[in-house]
Amino acid sequence: MSAPHHIPAAEAIIACEGLSKHFGGIRAFTDVAFQARRGEVTAVIGDNGAGKSTLIRSLVGVHQPDAGNLFFDGRARPFANPDEARKAGVETVHQNLALIDELTVAQNLFLNREIVRRIGPFAFLDRKAMKREARSMLSRLSINVPSINQRVRRLSGGQRQAISICRAVGSGAKLVVMDEPTAALGVQETANVEALIRRLREQSVSVILVSHNFDQVCRLSDQIWVMRAGKMAATVRASETSGNELVALVTGAA
Ligand SMILES: Nc1ncnc2c1ncn2[C@@H]1O[C@H](COP(=O)(O)OP(=O)(O)O)[C@@H](O)[C@H]1O
Ligand SMILES: [Mg+2]
Repeated sequence: MSAPHHIPAAEAIIACEGLSKHFGGIRAFTDVAFQARRGEVTAVIGDNGAGKSTLIRSLVGVHQPDAGNLFFDGRARPFANPDEARKAGVETVHQNLALIDELTVAQNLFLNREIVRRIGPFAFLDRKAMKREARSMLSRLSINVPSINQRVRRLSGGQRQAISICRAVGSGAKLVVMDEPTAALGVQETANVEALIRRLREQSVSVILVSHNFDQVCRLSDQIWVMRAGKMAATVRASETSGNELVALVTGAA
């Protein structure tokens, strides 16, 4: 088993040590050390129930860890809630897509961060500016949707996932965290989301990718962390491992 490596603090966009979280009597994970390097795609893999989602949620302020230290962008800072994480530059794409079916693509992109224009005592939504900015956000990531005025109810699973990712990164995030972003997608849609992740890395956005697709993880990521039964069991460079080794690390056969 590889010992968890330690990268210089300045190179880590996010790091934790001694992190633990339990729900009543259930230990989700214990004494976890984890780091993600700036500008890299960092994968977290492991069997169902290994603790991946809970770890991710504990990093981005959804859960409060019971113990341990968290560092983001060079500062010690647990996040009290996801909003605080977002303000610091951490965006999360959760597995259940948080889009509103009856709103349009542009409205979803600006949900809870509407552009407001003030004239004297009056404040109103700047719909023109939001549409302009929505087009530019989509084109920066080469995302194709029929129209930004289309309700998202009519979009495919892959298009919805792309909109979620676009919303996450459109706000200038430093770190984008994705929990199983392609689990529910078809082959072509998965390829599109993978291309999006590559584009994020080209634009120097750091990515944490939770996935149980070992081939995908080998293709996309730089560093792979393996969780097993609530522990961080190993970490390997993607370029120095194989699907077979990952299976062995995940199951504990290695
Ligand atoms: N809100 C919760 N309440 C109680 N137990 C939970 C909760 N969330 C996760 N767990 C438990 O924590 C463990 C890890 O779950 P999870 O992080 O979802 O694993 P993974 O994402 O690797 O499949 C599981 O045993 C799960 O049942
Ligand atoms: Mg999960």
